Amino acid sequence: MSQGIEQHNPGHSTRAQAHPNIALIKYWGKSDTLMNLPSAPSLSITLDTLVTETSITNASGNSDEVWLDGEKTIDLKIAGWLIDLRQRFDLPPLEIRSTNNFPTASGLASSASGFAALITAINAHCELGLDNNQCSIWARRASASAARSMQGGWATLSGPHWHVESLEINWPVRVVVAITDATRKAVSSSVGMAQSKDTSPYYPAWVETTTQDFAAATDLVAAQDFAALAELAEHSCLKMHGLMMSTQPGLLYWKPATLAVIHAIRELRAEGVPVFFTVDAGPQVKAICLPEAAKAVEDKLASISGVQQTLNVGLGPGAHLVTNATP
Ligand code: PMV
Repeated sequence: MSQGIEQHNPGHSTRAQAHPNIALIKYWGKSDTLMNLPSAPSLSITLDTLVTETSITNASGNSDEVWLDGEKTIDLKIAGWLIDLRQRFDLPPLEIRSTNNFPTASGLASSASGFAALITAINAHCELGLDNNQCSIWARRASASAARSMQGGWATLSGPHWHVESLEINWPVRVVVAITDATRKAVSSSVGMAQSKDTSPYYPAWVETTTQDFAAATDLVAAQDFAALAELAEHSCLKMHGLMMSTQPGLLYWKPATLAVIHAIRELRAEGVPVFFTVDAGPQVKAICLPEAAKAVEDKLASISGVQQTLNVGLGPGAHLVTNATP
């Protein structure tokens, strides 16, 4: 069952990078918490510029060491995931060092890029022999959205296999991220989702209609129909936040500036600017726009009171190794 790798690469490090992805058709809720299967499919874009870089070396001691953004950490999610991975593979104790060039756990999908980079680096360092689909399944077991960061550009995560798939389209939209509060969120996605499933009267309708939204959105992306995708993606986002707010206790990830940015984006679109918004489990707003509109969108969002920073990013690649990895 297991594959021995203890002898591999002592003293050498293996580095991988992955980028966050932003869902335009959101998932929120799981049908199987053990395997971390979403209850509905999702569609996303993987970004460039924002990046998680993870390096793996064999640990000098008998246990794993995890360093996140330069600090030695005990991360229960990573620890639990490594226990699962070791049920399948013999891994030596690992030293894991991961850094983000953007705020962690604040609605910028750091767990997506984090676990995609982690499985990519471990797969290579420990010679697990996993292909991209299998890596995305392992990433998904930690954080379902992480499966999507294994793929660049436009990607989907849907059943029955629940590994990432590419939409195989070259449609270079841009994303202006308006950061309104970079502190860590109070309720994690996993906890929030479980609460929504257990308590929101809207949950069954959310699952049913998201499956329909997903099918419609894949057609709109294939047709590069920006205007129709804008309406559907905003609907998916607001529907998810409506579900969150109807959870007990209510989940409210927005700040006042989040709403101000949403209104500004709607005003821009009403004036004919090709832009729409999406917001995840945090207060940041992502404005998706056609490339020619990105500068005007960024200028507008940067001028809003409460917007601390804007980032103007494009679409990026899937998780990959950094080949000059050996010190
Ligand atoms: O997969 P998680 O646990 O990182 O949750 C992601 C949840 C959302 O970002 C809100 C939606 C999505 O599909 O990415």
